[in-house]
Amino acid sequence: MLVLPDKMPSPYTRVAAVIGDPVSHSLSPSLHNAAFAALGLDWMYVACHVPEGQGAKAVQDMRTLGFKGLSVTMPHKAAVASAVDNLSATAAKLGVVNCVRVEDDRLIGENTDGIGLLNSIRTQMALDVEGLRVVIVGAGGAARSVALTMVENGATVGIYNRTHSSAAQVVEIVGGTSSVVQQNAIRDAELIINATPLGMAPNDPMPFDADLLRDDQSIVDLIYEPAKTTLLKEADSRGLRTLNGLGMLLHQAGEQFRLWTGQQPPIEAMAESVGLTV
Ligand SMILES: NC(=O)c1ccc[n+]([C@@H]2O[C@H](COP(=O)([O-])OP(=O)(O)OC[C@H]3O[C@@H](n4cnc5c(N)ncnc54)[C@H](OP(=O)(O)O)[C@@H]3O)[C@@H](O)[C@H]2O)c1
Repeated sequence: MLVLPDKMPSPYTRVAAVIGDPVSHSLSPSLHNAAFAALGLDWMYVACHVPEGQGAKAVQDMRTLGFKGLSVTMPHKAAVASAVDNLSATAAKLGVVNCVRVEDDRLIGENTDGIGLLNSIRTQMALDVEGLRVVIVGAGGAARSVALTMVENGATVGIYNRTHSSAAQVVEIVGGTSSVVQQNAIRDAELIINATPLGMAPNDPMPFDADLLRDDQSIVDLIYEPAKTTLLKEADSRGLRTLNGLGMLLHQAGEQFRLWTGQQPPIEAMAESVGLTV
């Protein structure tokens, strides 16, 4: 169900948008318009298809058009980081931006992916990551954000990836307790996070050897379409605690809403708009 703005826009309506390519599948308009409606804010949120290579120009257009917030998705996250006036400490470290906010006419790049996943794990799994041994499978943009947040919140993080050099690059950026690990480190992990796209297609294989799973582990897949990936089905069948990526999407949007409006995000209304119970 797509949630539309609940009132007609006026000359005073503040506009926020998501840019991406593709973008028509995005759940962000539902999440944000539900949040604005729940708090009765005169804001609206639209999806803008911005072709690859035009991300930096879209930032200039945001300035010209007076948009009050921007969500940034693939493939523009790095280009937007180079086009804004300032970066938050997290976005500067990661080199990628998923959100732009306006402060005194300056555009500030932020990254809310890691905190989005952390809030999802805290609220939906009632799990505190401090002191946990975490293995992240994959070493792309999402893995980078998640690894940094996990390390900053006291977890010990291993990065397992098919390409060793990408995993080493994540560790170089994140530092702290992070290290590159081999696949068998999954056996000793308390929390395992799939940050590869393996599981999006129906016949995708497991992202790692299923025999490494133990019965006291928690398993998170950043994928939310399908809701149950090969990994989550396998983990469910073994009675493990599992979580898909819809909660991460919800909570990263909640943090964006907080940055733009200064208000506490109405998480329940946002969750309801995408069929999630929290
Ligand atoms: N829930 C959310 O809000 C949310 C947010 C962001 C991303 N995500 C999901 O997270 C996943 C990763 O996104 P991303 O932006 O980080 O992607 P990305 O930058 O393209 O990175 C993908 C990673 O997966 C690995 N990989 C790709 N195909 C593989 C395969 N066939 N076998 C083994 N490893 C493979 C890549 O390994 P190499 O380094 O060897 O290429 C790379 O490390 C996607 O499924 C995305 O939809 C979810």
